[in-house]
Amino acid sequence: MKGVTVVSHPLVQHKLTLMRDRTRSTSGFRRLVREIAMLLAYEVTRELPMTTERIETPMEALDSPVIEGKKLVLAPILRAGLALADGMLELIPSARVAHVGLYRDHESLEAIEYFFKAPHDLADRLVIVTDPMLATGNSATAAIDRLKARGAHDIRFVCLLAAPEGIARMQAEHPDVPIWTAAIDRELNDKGYIMPGLGDAGDRIYGTH
Ligand code: URA
Repeated sequence: MKGVTVVSHPLVQHKLTLMRDRTRSTSGFRRLVREIAMLLAYEVTRELPMTTERIETPMEALDSPVIEGKKLVLAPILRAGLALADGMLELIPSARVAHVGLYRDHESLEAIEYFFKAPHDLADRLVIVTDPMLATGNSATAAIDRLKARGAHDIRFVCLLAAPEGIARMQAEHPDVPIWTAAIDRELNDKGYIMPGLGDAGDRIYGTH
């Protein structure tokens, strides 16, 4: 599917199966989110532009490869996106973080914003939006609307699971934003949950319900 990368690496797929299992403990689920987040971070940064930097090894001088440009920004959609961003930060520790506080109204399924704090120079940075579940696409599109309004124009979206409905909505509203996901599931149910899915990601990460 154009604009969507399904990360089919065996470690990602194995960990996702462990996460989908309803008997997985909160601590086990949380640990798996961090582990899978690192693997997704590896994939989403695969094509970053590179330059070289002059360094001295103990032996001689060398023009050695480094990532070009300003530090990238991770933009977790609160609250479930935080765990994904935390895992990614272990691999990209100097990334900046933009917090986007959105919750899903359980009646309307609309995304309601309650918090937004981002670096001032989003226009100069790659912004990676994180949310484990791309379901209706309401939260993802609202978060990206907000980040674009603040100047971001180089944006990528990372999730664990995507529903076809969420992908269609993203591609209709933000066709310039590529998506990385561990799997594309069958459909949404009438409550906006991904099927077969893994349940409510935030509840499973934080042990609430
Ligand atoms: N958010 C979740 O946490 N789970 C879903 O299945 C859909 C949205």
